[in-house]
Amino acid sequence: MHNKLASKYLPSKPYFARKAVPIRELHAGHTKEILQHLLQLNEGERRLRFGIQTSDEVIGRYVGCLDFNKDAIFGIFDLNLRLIGMAHLAYLPVDEGNARAAKFGVSVLPEGRSQGFGTALLQRSAVHSRNTRIETLYVHCLTSNKAMMHLAQKAGMSIEYAHGDADAYLKLPPANPSTIVEEAANEQWADMDYALKQNLKRSHQAWWWFFGRPKLAP
Ligand SMILES: CC(C)(COP(=O)(O)OP(=O)(O)OC[C@H]1O[C@@H](n2cnc3c(N)ncnc32)[C@H](O)[C@@H]1OP(=O)(O)O)[C@@H](O)C(=O)NCCC(=O)NCCS
Repeated sequence: MHNKLASKYLPSKPYFARKAVPIRELHAGHTKEILQHLLQLNEGERRLRFGIQTSDEVIGRYVGCLDFNKDAIFGIFDLNLRLIGMAHLAYLPVDEGNARAAKFGVSVLPEGRSQGFGTALLQRSAVHSRNTRIETLYVHCLTSNKAMMHLAQKAGMSIEYAHGDADAYLKLPPANPSTIVEEAANEQWADMDYALKQNLKRSHQAWWWFFGRPKLAP
């Protein structure tokens, strides 16, 4: 019965990230990186991310209010350990009789775009949602946000349009052993990837300390 229901709600065309991407679950110790990441979005990108004009001050308040115990925040780090992509999975209050739902918000810095990072963050958030008994994943975006609309459609989300806004929903099947293993494996791999990048960064810094930082060609 459970499986029948699950297959009914599976997207007709399930999406797959083009490549595996190590994604870490972030904690309160990453607040500075999250703030720096969001402050790097320009005015237009902030409007796409938050749906409204968002000043530095509002971003500061948003980051200050992040509840790492309640919500889940995921991040992708580049070789310099800069947070290049992040997703906020906000758990919505549980209403009696309604499905348990979470809201997905995502941003990838321009230099990281079109490499599958947004898709991978959505995929990771969907798996985490299933493993935490979320039944509906929800994204609010502007219909003019072509990249996000494309991403949502690719993920098999149902989309409802109203006044230039779009609400995309993904009905999620329940967790199963493979979603649990998938998340645990990604978590371990992401920790290993982060440690390697950390060592690489440290060894570069040590090298530069001895011999000076290489000059970039003009
Ligand atoms: C939306 C966003 C997260 C996508 O990140 P990303 O890392 O580039 O995502 P991906 O690479 O996984 O996928 C992007 C897809 O959109 C497509 N795309 C990009 N721009 C597009 C456009 N203008 N029209 C149509 N498709 C577009 C890409 O070709 C890619 O499709 P493909 O995987 O089939 O090749 C990123 O653009 C972003 O941070 N935007 C600003 C914040 C935002 O809009 N957040 C969403 C609202 S919460």
